Amino acid sequence: MYAVAPPPANTLRGRNLLQVTDLTAVELSSVLRLATYLKALPLAEQRSLARGRTLAMLFEKPSLRTRVSFEVAMSQLGGETLFASGSEFMVGSRETPEDVSRVLSRYVDAIVVRTHAHEPLERFARASTVPVINGLSAAAHPCQALADLLTMQERFGSIEGLRIAYLGDAKNNVAASLADAAVQLGATVQFGCPPTHRPSEAYLEHLQALGAPAGGTARAFSSAVRAVRGADVLYTDVWTSMGEERYRERNDAMLRPYAVTDELLGYAQPHAIFMHCLPAHRGEEVTEGVIEGEHSVVFDQAENRLHAQKALLVALLTDCKGMPV
Ligand code: CP
Repeated sequence: MYAVAPPPANTLRGRNLLQVTDLTAVELSSVLRLATYLKALPLAEQRSLARGRTLAMLFEKPSLRTRVSFEVAMSQLGGETLFASGSEFMVGSRETPEDVSRVLSRYVDAIVVRTHAHEPLERFARASTVPVINGLSAAAHPCQALADLLTMQERFGSIEGLRIAYLGDAKNNVAASLADAAVQLGATVQFGCPPTHRPSEAYLEHLQALGAPAGGTARAFSSAVRAVRGADVLYTDVWTSMGEERYRERNDAMLRPYAVTDELLGYAQPHAIFMHCLPAHRGEEVTEGVIEGEHSVVFDQAENRLHAQKALLVALLTDCKGMPV
């Protein structure tokens, strides 16, 4: 019996993270709080948090940040990883996603999957008895969004009330996960994009509904300047995502007016930060001057992949006893 209210339970233990909306706003804030805590915690005090646990990492697509940050996170938490890529592992090609998932659930404690279509990943996760984390699919990149929000929170103290301009391909997985996360915590997301790369009306309505409890909103502008005016954050990504190379020429032509340049940055707040999930194509979606300039936080953002994913792993694998969840 507690004489006072019991400490809040960790509601994330054993869950999957396939997209940001798998988390409530309260849970999203908890992961960010835990990430901040772990970032400041001496490594020697982290080494027992995932001791004896194994994370399987199944990647159908190339990766630098996601792969290495998960591997380092598990290592620093005292656990282990195993990695399979390409022909060793393709969701649904050699055997069904369900069979792969059920077998792996007997060997490991959690699984990160980087894949193409989102639907086989959902089948994979439904069959798993251990947490499944989306390390990027065509629909979502939730781990990137956690690091993005952690970076904004560090810079501004809070996500609530921020104005985030997303320039370029506003229909891609990074844009979707960023917007889902940001509106849930009360930010305004302003997409700057041509009609070909504009989120659907249904998706914009979804963001309005998702953001309503916290005051978050989203809208789309065909003018890059209108999207950026007064923004606290400018965010962009490559114009052509992995697997979409056949559209490269069309994308380059359509998205050129949405490149992040010093001139465009001048319409944002003087304190505005520039963000990019990386890898970047300098001279395409962003100029060398902006990405290397004083407003750029892209390497802090990349570092935060480690801290945010460490928090996610601890939340999914442990009861977070004694930690601020
Ligand atoms: N941003 C990101 O997911 O990077 P990688 O593709 O290198 O993992």
